[in-house]
Amino acid sequence: MSEETVPESDEANITSEGVDRRTFLTRAWQVGIALIAAAGTWTSFDILRSVRASGLGGVVRTVPEAEVTEIPIFVRSAQTYLTRIDDEIVALWQRCPHLGCRVAWCESSREFECACHGSRFNRAGEVRSGPSPRGMDRFDVIITEEAVEVDTGAVTEGAPPGEESIDEPPAGPSCSENVT
Ligand code: FES
Repeated sequence: MSEETVPESDEANITSEGVDRRTFLTRAWQVGIALIAAAGTWTSFDILRSVRASGLGGVVRTVPEAEVTEIPIFVRSAQTYLTRIDDEIVALWQRCPHLGCRVAWCESSREFECACHGSRFNRAGEVRSGPSPRGMDRFDVIITEEAVEVDTGAVTEGAPPGEESIDEPPAGPSCSENVT
């Protein structure tokens, strides 16, 4: 009875193939992990770069300074109302501090009104009535020769109720049924 033996050369090949397969799999894992890490790094870099550059969260160039008057104008790209209070240009974030609805400018009452739960704000964005815990938040403004730039990354919370800096009662009827 002859015992089946593996030729020396085949044994060497099996050992060699086994090591090669293990090495190959290890290297494949390492390459895969390196690619995932590189993709993650690039994605993070890309996200951070776009936030810093422009758009909401960065500096948004708007209209020339001369176009900003006492009547608020809405700048969609900055989600901001620009208005002039005395000699100062003020940028008011459109978001209601209560629950985040969009606040609208009402021409007849000459106030900002939130149709969701009825908060009202004067022309300076200071809260006059309703459930809002504070006035409309403000963005920093940079005046350049070409335009008013709004830094939407620099937010200052609005003042609490009772701290109105201008005395301008409603000029007429409200624009919203929900606003009292
Ligand atoms: S979200 Fe504006 S009053 Fe509630």
